[in-house]
Amino acid sequence: MEQIKTQKIFSGIQPTGELHIGNYLGAIKQFVEFQHKIDSIFCVVDYHSLTEDFDPKIKQEQIINTAIDYLACGIDPEKSILFVQSHVTGHTELAWILNCITPIAELERMTQYKDKSKNQKSNINVGLFDYPVLMAADILLYKADLVPIGEDQTQHVELARKIARKFNNRFGNTFPEPQIRLNKTARVMSLSDPSKKMSKSHGPKSYIALNDSPDVIKEKISKAVTDSGSAKNSKTNGGKNLLDLFSVFVDDESISKQFENDYKNGELQYSKLKPMLASVIISSLKPIQKKRAELAKSPDYVHQVLIKGKEKAEAIAATTMREVRQKIGLL
Ligand code: AMP
Ligand code: TRP
Repeated sequence: MEQIKTQKIFSGIQPTGELHIGNYLGAIKQFVEFQHKIDSIFCVVDYHSLTEDFDPKIKQEQIINTAIDYLACGIDPEKSILFVQSHVTGHTELAWILNCITPIAELERMTQYKDKSKNQKSNINVGLFDYPVLMAADILLYKADLVPIGEDQTQHVELARKIARKFNNRFGNTFPEPQIRLNKTARVMSLSDPSKKMSKSHGPKSYIALNDSPDVIKEKISKAVTDSGSAKNSKTNGGKNLLDLFSVFVDDESISKQFENDYKNGELQYSKLKPMLASVIISSLKPIQKKRAELAKSPDYVHQVLIKGKEKAEAIAATTMREVRQKIGLL
């Protein structure tokens, strides 16, 4: 009997500190929706996080906190595989093999590498350069067909597709070419500088963390940069960013339509929009924060989830690695 091919999703988040609503809207929110429909694998990509300056004393805590964030946002370990990248040896093993078929010129083109090496001049390490190959290995190790991510990661998944194609051409059909899945909110902009994406690296004023208190959220939204005169039609203006955020957090679509009309007519009152936006963000994050606080009190449960996740992930990874070793002549 012919086997029915099921689709598979893979995505990862780096354990580098608190998650913000950009991570939530660009990535995790769609992970939660996908897990009910498609086999899903989600990873705390700790090896990737070593490419930036880090403190070994808090790395474990950051890994567990990222796992807690996944669970608090609604990843169900009965439905999805949730695990830590460094617990499964196949990631780095496959990355090495893929390194040997990836042209250096492809990596030199990566905009994230170019940006990060500008921002961390004292630590332009080989890992930072090779980061996209490890990311390709993450995806291909599970033969994932779909990769839900924020817009900043699209170039890396395009490269994973190229690497899959190259491997298949050279050694025989092995990997599906993974497709990118972007949310409507694939690029949430910074609150303090709306020409840049919301990011931990631009400081806490630029983002709303999933764990921010109501007072902090109100304060950050009230100080958020809006539009400056003629910037109104630009894609990178703050007013549009706030409106987009409002439309995804509010339940009643008619209110956001009204604000959008006011905006188009140049009549939008930020003194009205901002408190309402803060309020819908506060109420949307409340259940996540509640679950987060409960999980933080159950470290044993979180460890058990990660052990089970590792076992399931490892079984898939071992099968792929056996096939890869055979195909390239190592077995
Ligand atoms: P990271 O924290 O860099 O591991 O990112 C985790 C996920 O969040 C990735 O899929 C990113 O593309 C996504 N992401 C990060 N920042 C943003 C943002 N400002 N808007 C939308 N998605 C984002
Ligand atoms: N590079 C991604 C980021 O910073 C995280 C990541 C690592 C990832 N491996 C992945 C995302 C595989 C999707 C698939 O956001």
